[in-house]
Amino acid sequence: MPGGMHGRSNAARLLPRAARAATSVPDAPGRAARVLLGISGGIAAYKGAYLVRRLRERGIAVRCAPTLAAESFVSPLTLEVLSGERVYGQSYLSRDGGVDGAELHVEAAQWADLLCVAPATANTLARLSLGLADDFLSTTALMFEGPVVVAPAMHDAMWRKPQVEARVEALCARGVEMVGPVEGALASGERGLGRMAEPETIVEAVCRKLALPEGAAASPAGPLAGWRVVVTAGPTYEAIDPIRFLGNRSSGRMGFALARQAALRGADVTLVAGPVNQETPEGVRRIDVVAASEMQAALEQAAPAADLVVMAAAVADYRPRERADRKLKKSGADGMVLELAQNPDLLAGLASLAPEAMRVGFAAETHDLEDSARGKLEAKQADWIVANDVSRPDIGFEATDNEVVVFGRGGAPVRFPKQSKDELAGRLLELFAGGGTVSS
Ligand SMILES: Cc1cc2nc3c(=O)[nH]c(=O)nc-3n(C[C@H](O)[C@H](O)[C@H](O)COP(=O)(O)O)c2cc1C
Repeated sequence: MPGGMHGRSNAARLLPRAARAATSVPDAPGRAARVLLGISGGIAAYKGAYLVRRLRERGIAVRCAPTLAAESFVSPLTLEVLSGERVYGQSYLSRDGGVDGAELHVEAAQWADLLCVAPATANTLARLSLGLADDFLSTTALMFEGPVVVAPAMHDAMWRKPQVEARVEALCARGVEMVGPVEGALASGERGLGRMAEPETIVEAVCRKLALPEGAAASPAGPLAGWRVVVTAGPTYEAIDPIRFLGNRSSGRMGFALARQAALRGADVTLVAGPVNQETPEGVRRIDVVAASEMQAALEQAAPAADLVVMAAAVADYRPRERADRKLKKSGADGMVLELAQNPDLLAGLASLAPEAMRVGFAAETHDLEDSARGKLEAKQADWIVANDVSRPDIGFEATDNEVVVFGRGGAPVRFPKQSKDELAGRLLELFAGGGTVSS
């Protein structure tokens, strides 16, 4: 397995990728693809920092151009440190803005292979659409001749306004690629269509536009390169008769997010999915199963070779002892007794099936979260237990967000505040692969 015992010495793989192999543009082989990242002034501007990291993980060189409003949300210094490149701030018009009298907007436009604006405020969308050139980003955008990817973010009332729609249509008509916005929690605390697409989705759009390989195949040197990761997701359905089953409300979102994020980080990913309505993430090998027994059979195939097994599926604890071959008819009696047999404990079974792998279980609880998670850690010989409170309607089952506490074999539990399941999946993978450290 990569990195020795339980892969924990893989922490070094999670360091910034400056020293890693660059992803070169097809028509300029040998040099890294270059993205100019325009960041405008919405709450999602802080995600610009994540975006820089995600782009760099793919071997792409990034320079940032925050608007004046964006600088209130994310500091140019943060962007400079994360990108390892100069930041085009608002001083570009001043005498010391350029070097040797260089016109920085010309230099930046000529440097970049692609312009990505994320987040794009309503204001910036309008300026890009109208061709205004009243700050560095808009002036450079007007100069720029290459492909443009834009990720709008705003309150859904703004997004639905005809004046915004008209600007978006005009930009699309000129070949600009819009990524999002997506439905979800807005900064105002409401929900709606206006949330910026996840950084990973934006990175995929950028890679597509630059004709760089996408998904797992694109990240042979990603932080999880060389890792074989198995993820289980969704519910299991335990048949009562040909048309009825015992199941649960797991949507599979958390497991699919983990599989997607592991693939984006370069891992070889097998996803064992119960019956869910989720698209297979790019670059992920998917095995569909229905019952716990089928999930066990799939794990017997995939887990022994794995370095990391994440059991995010909500596997039914019990199944009907007998499965009727024909539809059960009403008997006329008052009720019926369904006898249940216990299913094998798939997480506990991993200790013998994949003794070398790092093993992670999920504990969906409605009460006594911590006690129960600590108990599971011991009883199932897991390395980590990710506990979430499924009694809360805003997180856990069926929700797009999650908030968890992770218990490991040593040290204090690690708390992850409420965030999208995709973001959380990335942070969890960093924790598992980094041996207990999480990046900011
Ligand atoms: C706290 C706060 C959050 C904001 N969030 C957004 C946003 O998500 N989307 C948006 O279009 N405007 C948002 N605005 C308004 C923009 O900051 C404002 O329109 C600004 O002029 C945008 O400038 P820029 O496009 O040059 O960055 C927000 C303003 C504040 C004070």
